[in-house]
Amino acid sequence: SPDPDANAPPEPTLAAIARDLQSCRRCPLYRNATQAVPGEGPADARLMLVGEQPGDQEDLAGRPFVGPAGRVLDAALEEAGIDRSAVYATNTVKHFKHELRGKRRLHKRPNASEIDHCRWWLDLELKLVRPRLVVALGASAARGVLGRTVAVNASRGLPIESPDTPPVLVTVHPSYLLRIRDRDDAERERRRFVEDLQRAGAWV
Ligand code: URA
Repeated sequence: SPDPDANAPPEPTLAAIARDLQSCRRCPLYRNATQAVPGEGPADARLMLVGEQPGDQEDLAGRPFVGPAGRVLDAALEEAGIDRSAVYATNTVKHFKHELRGKRRLHKRPNASEIDHCRWWLDLELKLVRPRLVVALGASAARGVLGRTVAVNASRGLPIESPDTPPVLVTVHPSYLLRIRDRDDAERERRRFVEDLQRAGAWV
């Protein structure tokens, strides 16, 4: 019988990436995660959103941005007039990094090495989707996309252009908004986040 791979396209597909991610052993984070969480959205999306890593709920569901940070993101996208279903959303690191505190799984920031190892996947996604603009949600995402550390507040709001990537608009991570205790501060930061997304929407 014919080899089923003989006619496989030379370019990987998003479906192939989602499948192959499940056997990724490039860094140790797969050991404690339920599954790898692939990106989601149209393969020809003009706008790509990059988060940090799956959270507790994303790890269980196998889908990005379905937990509390995802709800903040969805509301902000809607307020910015961006149709989430037209956006490709993914994470810098595809496995949930956490530590156990009793029964709770507490998020732990991925380190630079984990981010850099996982760039293998992010680069494939960038080559396939070829978005007009990438929105990096927070410092981990900025490092994942740009391959170097940038200060979020100093680079915020105006797309960073480089020969190696699509323009990258850096903003805060939605879970940062969830951690602000003061109501006025939280509202002001939320507005700034929506404005960054509006700028992204206007760009694409
Ligand atoms: N935070 C992220 O960065 N990504 C998710 O998918 C969920 C929460």
